[in-house]
Amino acid sequence: MFNARLDQLPAYPFPRLATLLDGIEPGQPPLVMSIGEPQHEPPAMITEAMVKHASLWHKYPPGAGTPELRDAIKNWLDRRYNLPKGMIDRDDHVLPVAGTREALYLIATTVIPQDQPGPKPKVLLPNPFYQVYCGAAVLNDAEMVPLAAGPENGFLPDLDQIDAKDLDACALFFLCSPANPQGAIASRAYLEQIISLARKHDFVLAMDECYADIYDSTAPTGALEICAAQGGNMDNILVFHSLSKRSSAPGLRSGFVAGDAKIVKRFTALRSYCSATIPMPVMAASTALWNDDAHAEANRDIYRAKIDIAEEVFGNRFGFYRPPGGFFLWLDVGDDEAATRKIWKESGVKVIPGSYLSLTDANGNNPGKRFIRIALVHDLETTREGLTRIAKALES
Ligand SMILES: Cc1ncc(COP(=O)(O)O)c(C=O)c1O
Repeated sequence: MFNARLDQLPAYPFPRLATLLDGIEPGQPPLVMSIGEPQHEPPAMITEAMVKHASLWHKYPPGAGTPELRDAIKNWLDRRYNLPKGMIDRDDHVLPVAGTREALYLIATTVIPQDQPGPKPKVLLPNPFYQVYCGAAVLNDAEMVPLAAGPENGFLPDLDQIDAKDLDACALFFLCSPANPQGAIASRAYLEQIISLARKHDFVLAMDECYADIYDSTAPTGALEICAAQGGNMDNILVFHSLSKRSSAPGLRSGFVAGDAKIVKRFTALRSYCSATIPMPVMAASTALWNDDAHAEANRDIYRAKIDIAEEVFGNRFGFYRPPGGFFLWLDVGDDEAATRKIWKESGVKVIPGSYLSLTDANGNNPGKRFIRIALVHDLETTREGLTRIAKALES
């Protein structure tokens, strides 16, 4: 009756966390810092645009988005990455999606060859990783190749260590920069190398850049900037962006995919059979958000202030470092599950064990095992309170 591949999916991190903490009474009022759900006030322009366009609720939204939304996205890409005029065509290279989660899943259905003779195609992914990459690989019958992304290699997969056979069999490579959970940012040289691997071994590089506008000191380089320096060649490359983090609007369900025109075309065709489209009033709000950078800058300032607080609270303890991008702390606590239970019991703060965000590799190593992830998604005061409580629990 059921798709047997569903049984191959690892348990999702949040139900696992609920089981881990089941029966433990929190010692203080509960505070959830396990989920990366931004709690900053969403910009007023969302409601304004939705009200203004409320007459459009009766319309089926176009799957490829409105031209206004695609224009706004194109213009944002041009501004954010200083792309040359004419490189991005709003109709050929940009596809709005109802949040990047579903797009990151469906890109696998679009590009992983099915029913071909011989060994399964491979999906390469960083380890730890955003869980949807794993679901996308497993349910599309690919073999996952987790690539350790620990402190020893700057929290990004070591591209020089990847087996050439894995690269040859690779259909899809997920990379996240800034990375969830570690906050690492791929350098220009790193992106150049992975892009050249994508073309040499003919796989699709899915660059998850949904934290691109949340950074500490330096704006992360985007994969399209490398393409721009190569005369605008976007072959094999797709970038994924979202308003969930940039605009503190995870409930809006709005993001986009951009890049290689031939993949965008096939992806659009697939999506017309199965995808949620963005409702018209939500497209209007999304258009306003991509057209505005001031709110994203103000948002980034709040995250930076929270990293300052975290630095004050943790100093150089528990492997604390200022994450260059994103809004997570990735602390080295020795035993992730024991620390998570202790923090909950003594301080009432919910964090997530790093091993729940990582796979155990063929040698039995789980690169998340020593770490916990803390999401800095609350206001400044709540964040200080939560981090202070966590530090106290870890110290005792
Ligand atoms: C790394 C990463 N990619 C993608 C997503 C999906 O974001 P959304 O579907 O809200 O655009 C998330 C959400 O937490 C994420 O952390």
